[in-house]
Amino acid sequence: MEALRRLLAALDRDGDPAPADDIAFRIEALDRIDACLPHADEALRRQAMAASDRLESLNARFFEDLREDIRRGFGPERLMACFARWERPRAHADDPQAYDLLDELVAGLLRIGEPAVPTIELSPDMVFYQPTPARHILAMIRHSRLGPDDVLVDLGSGLGHVPLLAAICTRATAIGIELEPAYVACAQAAAGALALSNVRFMQADARAADVSAGTVFYLYTPFKGAILRDVLERLRDEATRRTIRVCTFGPCTAEVTQQSWLIRSAEYEANAPAIFHSG
Ligand SMILES: C[S@@+](CC[C@H](N)C(=O)[O-])C[C@H]1O[C@@H](n2cnc3c(N)ncnc32)[C@H](O)[C@@H]1O
Repeated sequence: MEALRRLLAALDRDGDPAPADDIAFRIEALDRIDACLPHADEALRRQAMAASDRLESLNARFFEDLREDIRRGFGPERLMACFARWERPRAHADDPQAYDLLDELVAGLLRIGEPAVPTIELSPDMVFYQPTPARHILAMIRHSRLGPDDVLVDLGSGLGHVPLLAAICTRATAIGIELEPAYVACAQAAAGALALSNVRFMQADARAADVSAGTVFYLYTPFKGAILRDVLERLRDEATRRTIRVCTFGPCTAEVTQQSWLIRSAEYEANAPAIFHSG
């Protein structure tokens, strides 16, 4: 309990314990308080809860300011500066699927609601929802050099983290295509609450959706087998009309690497999304 006493004393002594945008410090402090609470006596517990409330309300104010700046169109400048501070050295290089502090921060920023119970039963070759860890989304946005003339299409966009972050952090257009209507509704609501005009979500099967506007396609292994082959055939057809980039994360990368019409960029680390471009 000595660690908790010391932390609370430091928080008391320093008033607002960190610069306004050092939200990462506050989230880590909240996690440390949470971990100690079950072992604290009643007096220490009351003191810890009061400190927690204060940190939570500073965080809420910080996120509301950031969200207001995004609504006013300052997302790319504000977010890229924040992310540069928030990204931590990789403590989990051996587990590419692991989530970290950045994901907590992105959750506070995007405030995507809890989806209704899914109504679509996925066929065996379709992969259930799991979000891409935020550090990989940022890596994909940087490495694909997503620019104002690009249209990013996330095939199987789930709750919409990838299109939402791309639309906030860049001047590109982003489209999410997702089979499950409950996920599409949540993603649309999150985009509406941030007044984002450069992102939209479509409820559709990726095999049939209109992808003719896309210049960059992202797949976090949304499907495999015959469905993946069908969709890659569609992308190959799109690539006969314009050069496209295809970004992949997870097991589908192996299948995409076999596509003779795509060239893989060799310069990026193995655990980040892979970037391919057509001829
Ligand atoms: C692994 S999750 C990826 C979510 C999101 N792209 C991300 O990276 O955060 C795969 C998503 O693909 C969706 N999906 C599976 N098959 C699909 C299909 N044929 N058409 C559209 N979406 C599909 C699933 O419902 C799920 O939400």
